[in-house]
Amino acid sequence: MTVHIGAAKGQIAETVLMPGDPYRAKWAAETFLENAELVNEVRGMLGFTGSWKGNHVTIQGSGMGMPSLSIYANELITTYGAQTLIRIGSCGGMQRHVDVRDVIIAMTATTITSPSSGFFKEINYAPCADYGLLAAAVTAAESKGTKAHVGGIYSSDVFYAERPDLDEQMVRHGILAVEMEAAELYTLAARHGRRALAVLTVSDHLQTGEALPAEDREKTFGDMVEIALEAAFA
Ligand code: HPA
Repeated sequence: MTVHIGAAKGQIAETVLMPGDPYRAKWAAETFLENAELVNEVRGMLGFTGSWKGNHVTIQGSGMGMPSLSIYANELITTYGAQTLIRIGSCGGMQRHVDVRDVIIAMTATTITSPSSGFFKEINYAPCADYGLLAAAVTAAESKGTKAHVGGIYSSDVFYAERPDLDEQMVRHGILAVEMEAAELYTLAARHGRRALAVLTVSDHLQTGEALPAEDREKTFGDMVEIALEAAFA
C-alpha cells in the first residue's frame, strides 16, 4: 500500500498502462484483460490487474496533468517495482497532416515546466521514450493498419491555454500534438531506469477545431490500447 494506491505489493504487475481517466482504465481492463481484478480505488483513481495473452498487466488511472501522474508513477515505480509504464490517452492534434482518430507514438515530450523542472535547475532536460517500446509500437500500428505518427509532442500544464503564440511555436517546430502527462512520465522512467512510452489518440484538433464524435471513441481508443499492449510484450 502507498499513500495513493491501496493495492497489496503483489497485486500490481511489472507492466502498467496509464490512462488519465480512471473510467477508461475500467473500460480497457474489462475489454482487453482476462480475469481483471480491481486493485485500487483510493480517491476513485481506479486500477485493475489482469492478464493479456498470458502476460500480467495493470491498468491504473493517472489523473490529469503531470503533478497527478507523477504521484502514481512514483509510487508504481518505487513501491511496486513497475518496469514498463505506458501512457494511453487522448491528445489535441497540432499539425495539418495529423487527423482526429490518428495515433501518436511520442518520441519526445517538450514542456515549459514539469514537477521535475525544479530538480534540473538550469538544465533543459529532453524527456524521450524508450526506443525498444517505441519501435515495437510502430510495428504494432503498422501491422494493424492504424494511421500512426511518430515524433515530438508537447506536455502542457494547461488545457485552457491563454498563449496562442506558444502553440504557434510548437506547430512551427513540428510538434505533432498536445497532452498533459507524458514529459513527466518519461523523466521519472529515466530517473529510475524503467521503460516508458506514450501512445495517444487524437481526440480533437487545435487547427481545424474538429473533435472525435463520442460514438467513435471506443473503437479508436481500442486500437491505442492494443498497440500499447503489443509494444509492452513484443
Ligand atoms: N490540450 C491539452 N491536452 C489535451 C488536449 C488539448 O487540446 N486534447 C486532449 N488532451
